[in-house]
Amino acid sequence: TVRSSFVVVANRLPVDEVSTPDGRQWRRSPGGLVTALHPVLAEHQGTWVGWAGGTGAAPDPFDLEGIRLHPVPLSAEELERYYEGQSNATIWPLYHDAVETPAYKRRWREAYRLVNARFAEAAADVAAEGATVWVQDYQLQLVPAMLRELRPDLRIGFFLHIPFPPIELFMQMPFRTEILRGLLGADLVGFQQRLAAQNFVRLARHLLGLRYEGQMIQVDGRQVKAGAFPISIDTREMERMAADPAVQARAKEIREELGNPKTIILGVDRLDYTKGIELRLKAFRELLADGKLSVPDAVMVQVATPSRERVEHYQALRVKVEREVGRINGEFGRVGVPAVHYLHQSYSRSELAAMYVAADVMMVTPLRDGMNLVAKEYVASRADQGGALVLSEFAGAATELRQAFLCNPHDPDAVKDALLRAVHVEKPEARRRMRTMQRHLRTNDVGHWAKSFLTELGVPEAEAA
Ligand code: UDP
Ligand code: G6P
Repeated sequence: TVRSSFVVVANRLPVDEVSTPDGRQWRRSPGGLVTALHPVLAEHQGTWVGWAGGTGAAPDPFDLEGIRLHPVPLSAEELERYYEGQSNATIWPLYHDAVETPAYKRRWREAYRLVNARFAEAAADVAAEGATVWVQDYQLQLVPAMLRELRPDLRIGFFLHIPFPPIELFMQMPFRTEILRGLLGADLVGFQQRLAAQNFVRLARHLLGLRYEGQMIQVDGRQVKAGAFPISIDTREMERMAADPAVQARAKEIREELGNPKTIILGVDRLDYTKGIELRLKAFRELLADGKLSVPDAVMVQVATPSRERVEHYQALRVKVEREVGRINGEFGRVGVPAVHYLHQSYSRSELAAMYVAADVMMVTPLRDGMNLVAKEYVASRADQGGALVLSEFAGAATELRQAFLCNPHDPDAVKDALLRAVHVEKPEARRRMRTMQRHLRTNDVGHWAKSFLTELGVPEAEAA
């Protein structure tokens, strides 16, 4: 085994193995975690430990663009219990304010333990003496403590990409103490928001009676730090991609394909119930019904990337969203001119960039979201300083992107109002808003995020750079 001094452990590798008629192929994995971590790993030349997407035996470790990938296997049963069950039907909904009801099952927890132990062992195998290991996200919350047990010499960081709930919600979880102890195995536990970090330190006191001062918790004679590190995008790369003549040309083409409407309203999300896709569609429908917007002047494009398709809540959501799209098109579309272009597909980054450039209004309306990188990508891609962003107050990104048209997604009138204001904003004001947000993202990019975290973790300056 090749040993690394910098190891990232995440449920997913940056690429997914897909079997096609021509055999095995690699495809970029979905989600914001991969978007954010890929440039960080490329810079640090580390090893990435994670699942390669299939079931059964894992592929051998291999190199991809300077990153060493170390696949961890999952069986079909583990996929169902650890990934679809405990991770995505228990923890995901619970940590997102229980916007859908979390399910609790013993056999899911057992699988979660088992798989977390496997990830910890894999990390212990590839980490060099005294290495830094950075564990990611809600699927692997037991790994820090398990890894410390195996390798006390390591520097261990943990970052949670999704929200961390208030005590009252967290206390629902049957093996809450174990999860908390798992996280406390890290030297530094990072969150997207200050409030989440506060929830965590208070929970440590509430559940384990631990003492803390500021963000520093005392655990078994060790110190564990908690902190907020809002994640971001590779802003320069996004700017470059959006400015690419091919992407610009494609953006124009998209506008034409849509019939050159006055207003293109865009949504880009995994098809997930936390994203508020339905309420966004409903706001659009009501504005059409009120006569405040009309087809073909305004059209909506909704990319809803397939996600976690075997989990019940996701199946139910798909039915609801597709019914709503059908209803809107039935009522307000015309032959050759649908009101909503619904795309249940996954797109490449450059195609998305072209959509961002083409869109007059971007709607990001999650009921709860750790950060939401799509919002940041949209802002970074608008070199023309055109476009307007409608953003939910419940996305982590709202803490930073204050010049967006912010709204409470639970209030349909607030969403309609924000959308209308974004549609009708005067150009100079739109530019002012964009410029301010763009400046913020240039300084606060993903490199800055990684560096802040690693510096706080005590990784020497040169290595964290
Ligand atoms: N994305 C993509 N193709 C798609 C849809 C989304 O590459 O078809 C990317 C998108 O550009 C962004 C990430 O997936 O980088 C989604 O991250 P976000 O934080 O918005 O949400 P998450 O999916 O992590 O909840
Ligand atoms: C979010 C989570 C990630 C996850 C991604 C895609 O960004 O924070 O951990 O990888 O969604 O979801 P998936 O279940 O397909 O990995």
